[in-house]
Amino acid sequence: MPEPSVTVRPAAPSDVSAIEAVDPVASTDEGRRGFIAERVAAGETLVALVGDAVVGYVVLEHGFFERGFVAMLCVHPERRRQGIGRALMRHAEGACRTPQIFTSTNLSNAPMQRLLEGLGYRRSGMVDDLDPGDPELVYSRRVRDPRSPPEAAG
Ligand SMILES: CC(C)(COP(=O)(O)OP(=O)(O)OC[C@H]1O[C@@H](n2cnc3c(N)ncnc32)[C@H](O)[C@@H]1OP(=O)(O)O)[C@@H](O)C(=O)NCCC(=O)NCCS
Repeated sequence: MPEPSVTVRPAAPSDVSAIEAVDPVASTDEGRRGFIAERVAAGETLVALVGDAVVGYVVLEHGFFERGFVAMLCVHPERRRQGIGRALMRHAEGACRTPQIFTSTNLSNAPMQRLLEGLGYRRSGMVDDLDPGDPELVYSRRVRDPRSPPEAAG
């Protein structure tokens, strides 16, 4: 099946309920809903759209050892394996204000590991003691020459 035409733009407060509808965790987890609302209000969220429909989102923070850090990437379950996660990561890299971008995922999350490896991320380490029995793998990628300014977000 051909990949859909995906556009990515900064999220607006009016996107919050559509973002919650994309993320299965948000339907049961008040903490996730609060996280989404806060990160959108902070201007740290990008949404992927197919037509007018929000189909995924990515949260890019800059508080991780003063580096860009993708704290969340999620694609609607019915829209997965269509290149949307990859497109969101590429846009997060474009919006990253630091030469390196970091992210992390659980050892059990093979789809995210495959996605990151396919985009040229390397393993930067592992953190125990977050989720019991499921360590967090940290990944990073150099996104630009340290002397170059970041691209415009969006
Ligand atoms: C991880 C996630 C964001 C991937 O999004 P996606 O839109 O399906 O990913 P893409 O279609 O862009 O896939 C890019 C590549 O990642 C890999 N990949 C993605 N899903 C995969 C799966 N289920 N199994 C194996 N590889 C997978 C493949 O290499 C894929 O390339 P290909 O389709 O050409 O083979 C999505 O599965 C998701 O939302 N998961 C729940 C939330 C989550 O775990 N987020 C990550 C931690 S914050």
